[in-house]
Amino acid sequence: MKRIFEIDPWKVVTHKFNKDDKRLQESMTAIGNDYMGMRGNFEEGYSGDSLQGTYLAGVWFPDKTRVGWWKNGYPEYFGKSINAPSFIGIGITINGEKLDLAKVKFSDFNLSLDMHQGLLSRSFVYEGKDVKVKFEFERFLHISLKQAALIQVKATVLEGHVKIDFDSTLDGTIINEDSNYDEHFWMPIDEDSKAKTIQVETKSNPYKVPQFTVLLKESLRHNGEKLDGEVTTDKAKLGEKLSVELDQGQSYDLEKDVIVVTSRDVEAVDQKQNANELMDKLQSKSFDENLADHTAVWQKRWEKSDVVIAGDDAAQQGIRFNILQLFMTYYGEDKRLNVGPKGFTGEKYGGATYWDTEAYIVPMYLCVTNPNVTRALLQYRHDQLPGAFHNAKQQGLNGALFPMVTFNGIECHNEWEITFEEIHRNADIPFAIYQYTNYTGDESYVKNEGMDVLVNTARFWADRVHFSKWRNKYVMHGVTGPNEYENNVNNNWFTSTMARWLLQYTLERLPKATKEAQERLHVTDEEKAKWQDIVDKMYLGEDKKLGIFLQQDDFLDKDIRPASSIPAEERPINQHWSWDKILRSPFIKQADVLQGIYFLNDRYTKEQKEKNFDFYEPLTVHESSLSPCIHSILAAELGKKKKAVELYERTARLDLDNYNNDTVDGLHITSMSGSWLAIVQGFAGMRYDHDQLKFNPFVPDNWDHYSFKINYRDRLIEVYVDHEETKITLLKGDDLEVLVEGKKLDLKEGKTECLKD
Ligand code: BGC
Repeated sequence: MKRIFEIDPWKVVTHKFNKDDKRLQESMTAIGNDYMGMRGNFEEGYSGDSLQGTYLAGVWFPDKTRVGWWKNGYPEYFGKSINAPSFIGIGITINGEKLDLAKVKFSDFNLSLDMHQGLLSRSFVYEGKDVKVKFEFERFLHISLKQAALIQVKATVLEGHVKIDFDSTLDGTIINEDSNYDEHFWMPIDEDSKAKTIQVETKSNPYKVPQFTVLLKESLRHNGEKLDGEVTTDKAKLGEKLSVELDQGQSYDLEKDVIVVTSRDVEAVDQKQNANELMDKLQSKSFDENLADHTAVWQKRWEKSDVVIAGDDAAQQGIRFNILQLFMTYYGEDKRLNVGPKGFTGEKYGGATYWDTEAYIVPMYLCVTNPNVTRALLQYRHDQLPGAFHNAKQQGLNGALFPMVTFNGIECHNEWEITFEEIHRNADIPFAIYQYTNYTGDESYVKNEGMDVLVNTARFWADRVHFSKWRNKYVMHGVTGPNEYENNVNNNWFTSTMARWLLQYTLERLPKATKEAQERLHVTDEEKAKWQDIVDKMYLGEDKKLGIFLQQDDFLDKDIRPASSIPAEERPINQHWSWDKILRSPFIKQADVLQGIYFLNDRYTKEQKEKNFDFYEPLTVHESSLSPCIHSILAAELGKKKKAVELYERTARLDLDNYNNDTVDGLHITSMSGSWLAIVQGFAGMRYDHDQLKFNPFVPDNWDHYSFKINYRDRLIEVYVDHEETKITLLKGDDLEVLVEGKKLDLKEGKTECLKD
């Protein structure tokens, strides 16, 4: 655990600069606008250890697979978000000394991410020979003019006389730190010193993955007036230089406006023209006016989705940081996109989409965004069914297998224990169809496109299980559950339970599917009978004496001991132990059996939940960011309030406090929804069961109160909970009956209903 930013309800702020924490600081001050994003790099450059990172949504490269021992069925490439051309550069030289915080003397450092408006600011005083200059930087990625980035730097001379040379750059020579073969993914196409543009294209590839072309344009302004410096170009690079001389007390501000256009939206030949038009649009307003427009959009988003926590600023900061980062990554405005685990904040993980989206993002986005956003996420998978057919075929199996990691539906993960074995995803992903239908009441998706997903994944499962004559049951061998700290196990309870659920749900929904879907899918009676037989005879391990479901056949043979027995200096174990030691240990990376109990929550009794929680949670090291939230929600349901709060803090502040010592690589975007779920499904106990919305709330002891809003079937509902009462206000929409602690409350628009404790 390491906290390098101060606690503040609306800011991520620090007054210290520690070179050793530069990468961590960069991850935590990342900004994005769901079109592009970047790490918190310094505009003037930095020669110390740093990861320069700019990423453009949906722009990726198929990096040729690199493995030690090739196995049939491996994907040919690993899809990577390309570290895009960098456009924030404003090199600064003061009286001949290059401004580089790794080398120069400076004081009064301040770095702040304003969460209200997604604005990154930084200031410090440069202390040179006989001079002191205060520098103030501000930058934001425009939320309504998505292609625009605005950066401002102001220099104020506090002491002495200075000559400042600025060198504004566009740099298309950036390479991915994690490139498999140290290849440059970008090739130069054009540099235009007059138009101040560079254009680059991704390298060609043998995999039929489309190449991307990107054009960047810059323009400088001073006091709102356009400026022209001395422009030079080189391959995939542009620099624009200008100098000013200032006396003590004088200041100078320079604004750098940038437009980024990609071939996802505009063909290469039209990009320059398009960028010119967008730049005119940007520059028809001042920096402050653009910022006001941008802030107004954020304001609206916050009005609908802010979670207010009174009495605990650390918890408040955590949830706001997570909501901000999630919305900066994905707000559902471009249906071709999805939510990558690192968003725009780092390179690790590659791919755009994991099961994380359906399991962790969907349950939150269903409640905080328009239902169309979730529907678009479902449609995204439907559109990728051809890839899923390909993946199943690669394994020699029927039907469709959704990938662990992908941009286009085709699996690009290449570790056999995950690619071939971590197949629980193939039920978790369709589970979102159930969640969507259940929450919104909209049956149209499941009846038609959703049925394609259900039937084809059912076909995969029916082929993946086999019948054990010895057990007289269907079993599933060679799988990896969500707990990746065990591989190639037999009968992972979670995977088998979810596969069985999928088959059952498909059989249940099939007769209600549209005629077209039924004809298109042509499910035979024989297939249905086989699916039903698997549902009836699926082997799900349990130990009746302990009252637990068995994570896998051999689990109880392990040297079962609590995670608290691991010496603190050996945590996280994935950074200290050999893989062999981890695999043989009883320690669990993330919710596995408990993930199943969370998903299919209404199928299990309180006693079953309790016994499994009490057995598995103490063994869990929570070394996946996806872990603490699920445990927090279940702990809350079981009345284990202290545990629920402890795990909420871990999930909400996972990155802010660098719990897993890996935030240097980037933020854990897909688990950020977990903190929202821990409050709403955990502390407030929200559940929905077809037409019934229910709450069962409590307030953590050290909080005064909390409140949040959800949209539910064309209604906007506010929930407020303190130590004495729960208040539910129907802000908008038709009357609704909800259950709070089992009691009926009749909600009417504009009215607040209250339940005293
Ligand atoms: C987790 C997976 C998850 C992936 C991306 C891994 O560490 O074990 O469940 O999908 O991270 O977030």
